Amino acid sequence: MYLVPVRFASALLLAAALGGCASDVPPDVFIAFGEDFEDYPTWTSFDRGVDPIPPSHEAASFLYVDPMPPSGSPEFPVGTRIVREQRVGEDPAGWVLHAMVKRGGGFNADGAPGWEFFGLALADDGRPFIAWRGTGPADGDGYTAPDGGEVLSCNQCHGSATYNDSVLSPVLDLTALP
Ligand code: HEC
Repeated sequence: MYLVPVRFASALLLAAALGGCASDVPPDVFIAFGEDFEDYPTWTSFDRGVDPIPPSHEAASFLYVDPMPPSGSPEFPVGTRIVREQRVGEDPAGWVLHAMVKRGGGFNADGAPGWEFFGLALADDGRPFIAWRGTGPADGDGYTAPDGGEVLSCNQCHGSATYNDSVLSPVLDLTALP
């Protein structure tokens, strides 16, 4: 019976060791929580204009990235957070907010490797919270193909972009980082 507390203690020690070196060593795994999105409007941002990608409803679209990968990065480092904000309507409570975070640790290996997807929503006080997270959205929150038929998953579009670490926007082209 004493095995359980011993294993628990070693997990705590491991967590302490990992936490202790967090400042200068990049993390192997980054698990985002709601607070990791709270300041997203202050991140490096890109005005993408009116964007035709479903389900934008031809809304003004913005990307927010933190941190921007260093110039020459072959991939997005673990811990990279990207939010895509589609301003559907006047009321921010109705905006479509999608995010992807480089989680690492073999997450989503068969889809967009290393990336976790998020649906965010804005609370009454304007702060974002996580509506869903994982390898894709809950049922009914996918994208509809232009012909109105098939619902595509996050992984179907993003996972196919193997040439740019599953990130699709041309403003985040790894070969053209400032
Ligand atoms: C129909 C294909 C398609 C599907 C399905 C799709 N995306 Fe995207 N996504 C795109 C394209 C294209 C861009 C680039 C937009 C731009 O250039 O501003 C993009 C951009 C993004 C970005 C900004 C980073 C990047 O790759 O440029 C995030 C975050 C994002 N999508 C999240 C999601 C999430 C979460 C889902 C699933 C709910 C999803 N996407 C499903 C096509 C898609």
